[in-house]
Amino acid sequence: MGLEAFLDLTKFRQRSSTSGPGLSLEDFIALSILLVLLATSATDEDPAHPYTHSRLRSIFPKSEEWILRMIPTSNTDLKKDFFLTRRNKVAVVTGGNRGLGYGIVRKLCQSFPGDVYITCRNSEDGAKALEQLKKEGLNPKVHILDITLAESIQEFRRHLENAGGLDVLINNAATAYLHTGVVAEDVKTAEATLGCNYFGTLSLCEELFPLLRPFARVVNIVSSCGVFAITGNEPKSEGIRKKLSNPNLSIPDLNDIMKGYLSSVANGSVKEDGWQDIVVSSNNISKIGLQTLTSLQQREMDGRRGEDGIVINSLHPGLIRTEKAAEFPGHMLSIDEAAKGPCEAATLPPGPDVPKGQFLWTDLRVVDWINGPIPWCL
Ligand SMILES: NC(=O)c1ccc[n+]([C@@H]2O[C@H](COP(=O)([O-])OP(=O)(O)OC[C@H]3O[C@@H](n4cnc5c(N)ncnc54)[C@H](OP(=O)(O)O)[C@@H]3O)[C@@H](O)[C@H]2O)c1
Repeated sequence: MGLEAFLDLTKFRQRSSTSGPGLSLEDFIALSILLVLLATSATDEDPAHPYTHSRLRSIFPKSEEWILRMIPTSNTDLKKDFFLTRRNKVAVVTGGNRGLGYGIVRKLCQSFPGDVYITCRNSEDGAKALEQLKKEGLNPKVHILDITLAESIQEFRRHLENAGGLDVLINNAATAYLHTGVVAEDVKTAEATLGCNYFGTLSLCEELFPLLRPFARVVNIVSSCGVFAITGNEPKSEGIRKKLSNPNLSIPDLNDIMKGYLSSVANGSVKEDGWQDIVVSSNNISKIGLQTLTSLQQREMDGRRGEDGIVINSLHPGLIRTEKAAEFPGHMLSIDEAAKGPCEAATLPPGPDVPKGQFLWTDLRVVDWINGPIPWCL
């Protein structure tokens, strides 16, 4: 691998001399040191080697930044070569200790070329999940992360910074108080649900997005229930749909809409304010918020780092037979079946036809959740 990386970089030098500006002396020295180390390094599969890629990353945390800086911005082919062929990638699954998250971790561990992180709130749960996966010959990393706690998010960001960045982020963690039918939720439940599923996920993304490497993939796990919560004939639901699909909507605007929902719950005016249809619950509203956030995040990412080919989608994983949904009747997907979609969305290849900022169904179909049609989910 050391030799492979060396050859990749040699290719880069040949191409950059014809298509881009020359190297500065500082860049040249940095690159030369890195080339020597890469040429004599071993992958992390050989921990006895004095220079594994993890050790190199900890000695030269800025190495990729240097290389990126030296690649002309227009040269996306070269970035693709460098970032898509690398094997020491990093994938993070929030709420990876159980349910769908556990299934996603297991599937990624079987094929992802790099480290897969189970993040979880409780170290015992993390250790238990790790033990089970080790029995299958899989070896994820475990890190404590509560997406509702700023310190926990910042600590994890520092950890990933030292690891050199992030290639895949699957925002799966969520809390839900599931009900069948229409219920009036209390403010505490509504705040806890939106606080985790919408605001918690948003905070995590704000901290981790600067660490995303070129061609990174982000998957926000949402739910068909969110769409059903605002789809229908209610004239006021139409108003909510219009607000959410306004092309000029910003993330602060969306935050205000989500806070507006919390006020409606506090005032007991959820239905009157238009958040009303066949299923109303804070879980559903939080998911419709996350779905809307996805397209805004993609728009912002394209504006800031369009040349890096980063793709952010939301995805409904199907109805899954997890602990949470244990009481629901009818056919449901197994955790393994449901993990397929998120893993495919997390490894979408680059290309002009790749869905970006979209709402994806279980089978990666793009669904227009504002105008429909919405597939029937059972
Ligand atoms: N199950 C379904 O039928 C279904 C359908 C559509 C969409 N989804 C979505 O799929 C995802 C996974 O669902 P699931 O059924 O697997 O749920 P689950 O079994 O309840 O697991 C949820 C995971 O999220 C974690 N979590 C909760 N709050 C957290 C926080 N503040 N910080 C970090 N992690 C937190 C939980 O950790 P703890 O173990 O510590 O509680 C757990 O690991 C969710 O986003 C859900 O909305 C599920």
